[in-house]
Amino acid sequence: MTCTSLPSAAIPDVPPAAGGRRDPLCAGLDIGGTAIKYAVVDPLRGATVGPVRRVRTPHPATPAAVIAALRGVLTQLESELGGGTSLTGVGVGVPGIIDDGVARSAVHLDDSWIGADARRLIAEGLERPAAVLNDADAAGLAEVQFGAARGVGGTVLIITLGTGIGSALFRDGVLMPNTELGHIWFEGRDVDGWAGASARVAEGLDWPTYTDRVQRYLSHLEKLISPDLVVLGGGISERQEQFLPHLRLRARVVPARLRNAAGIVGAGLQAYRESLAAR
Ligand code: BGC
Repeated sequence: MTCTSLPSAAIPDVPPAAGGRRDPLCAGLDIGGTAIKYAVVDPLRGATVGPVRRVRTPHPATPAAVIAALRGVLTQLESELGGGTSLTGVGVGVPGIIDDGVARSAVHLDDSWIGADARRLIAEGLERPAAVLNDADAAGLAEVQFGAARGVGGTVLIITLGTGIGSALFRDGVLMPNTELGHIWFEGRDVDGWAGASARVAEGLDWPTYTDRVQRYLSHLEKLISPDLVVLGGGISERQEQFLPHLRLRARVVPARLRNAAGIVGAGLQAYRESLAAR
């Protein structure tokens, strides 16, 4: 299948900063089961500013414990930026279903997140508005706006292979949130724990065996969705040369251009968009 290119008007572009004003900066925080990764994000350029850092995710990962960790991270980022520069927004990517700010599942986090208004709790804890969205959706937004799927029309599927498998599905640049295609039942199991990057490590799989799993999973998804472009990201994107050239799909398959920072950049981008919408 060939990818159509999207007329640029179909993807809402991030507007440039008003003349004379310094470019906005946002915080992008990406909560994972093992670590919270974070950085200052330039939402106009789709890049992190300064290093991507990580702190351990607290255990048990209750809302109170995780939000306390987010607060520490934000204090650190702001003190590094110095008093003259303030953050325009804070975006948080979370594993699991985030339905209008409310957590409908808790994956790799404590079950007490389920049903919690994550957006409200995080905003209260950080004492400022926060954009809260699924981590793979955040990565997808960054890839569509700035990365491997920029300007690509039709059906674009972003799959993140990490501790779990995340998905972000776009049609003509528009996200259909919370697809959770990493949890389809496939060959008698939830595919998340079978083809995720952590399964490769936990089971000591060699690359050909792992690649075969990813191939079977993606072929199945291709039958269900017929994507025009598949973007592979997540922790494994740092090793993509090991498996990506061996994958065979009708759709084009490419690595995430923002690699494992896509979730951070996407969270910062969403924070910026929401700050504009709130004006
Ligand atoms: C979760 C998804 C998440 C993915 C990557 C999966 O186990 O269900 O919501 O996007 O892991 O963190």
